[in-house]
Amino acid sequence: MGAPFFHSPVQDLVDHKIAAAYNEAGEQYLAYADGAAGDLFAFDGDYAYGDRESWALLVAKLKALRAAGRTELGLLDLGCGPGTWIRRLVIEARRLGFSRVRARGIDLAEGQIAHARKSCSALARLPGVTLHFEPGDIRAPFSEKDGSVDLCLCLYGVLNHLSVRDMGAVLREAARVTGGWFIATVRATGSTPTIYVDSLQAARGFRQDNHFDRMDVELANGRHISFASHLFSSAELRDLASGAFAIEDLRGLDLFHLRFALDARFNPTERVRADGLLPELDRLEEACCRHPGMIDFATHLLLVAKPRTEG
Ligand SMILES: C[S@@+](CC[C@H](N)C(=O)[O-])C[C@H]1O[C@@H](n2cnc3c(N)ncnc32)[C@H](O)[C@@H]1O
Repeated sequence: MGAPFFHSPVQDLVDHKIAAAYNEAGEQYLAYADGAAGDLFAFDGDYAYGDRESWALLVAKLKALRAAGRTELGLLDLGCGPGTWIRRLVIEARRLGFSRVRARGIDLAEGQIAHARKSCSALARLPGVTLHFEPGDIRAPFSEKDGSVDLCLCLYGVLNHLSVRDMGAVLREAARVTGGWFIATVRATGSTPTIYVDSLQAARGFRQDNHFDRMDVELANGRHISFASHLFSSAELRDLASGAFAIEDLRGLDLFHLRFALDARFNPTERVRADGLLPELDRLEEACCRHPGMIDFATHLLLVAKPRTEG
């Protein structure tokens, strides 16, 4: 495939900082991102609303493949972190009757890959399941054959850590291997604040620099971490993805739930508990998630795309 994939010493240092940040976060990242570790399908973490919506979409795509008669499934998770989404998908795919599931997760942070391997070891031994987690950089070409991946995922902030310069090549490579859908979520320009690797409570202070696309964090334990963080507008993401993909949907995920969260730092918690609030927030999300003036205030943007077919 084409450019860029060059690695300067400066780029190596930037990569090292991202990997180090997620390696250091370790299991804490899992608890922060996914909530109660016990139940994979509880969706009770900080991002519960977005998780539930993303999961409903993924299940719908699995069902569409089964309805089309497919019994074999190919999954690729770019920046898989602790492997939570692959675990969910492999379990659900077997439940829906896929008899062969081939899945691979790639991540720059070896510590996250180690978690993924550990938590998926029983799943990986099931008959008909081929499951690998590999340390690696999603800016390098993928080993998958053209069109061999039914669901290619890149969820929760992975693309925010790339330089925009690298995005075109990564998306073209994702389109090359995808036969079904490419599904990505990224942090939006107007999203609620994040330090990516842990909850905001774990930070004494942080700064998102949109000029240099950097996030600097002073953690509660006194350590400083600093890594690449580019926030996307929906227009920018659409432009970048359109080069390689036909966009099926681009919507905001969580415009309201986090802003109304049960968080004593910025909300009167009794009011948040009011009956009927959550269904009302769901209704507002649905009504506003594609609104041109509101979409960029979502916590994440959700992209659903199919590779462009020639001609
Ligand atoms: C916020 S986490 C999301 C993890 C996972 N997708 C999830 O939803 O739980 C972002 C992940 O992207 C990984 N990452 C960042 N840049 C990467 C790159 N160039 N290649 C591979 N992984 C990368 C980080 O190591 C981290 O595990």
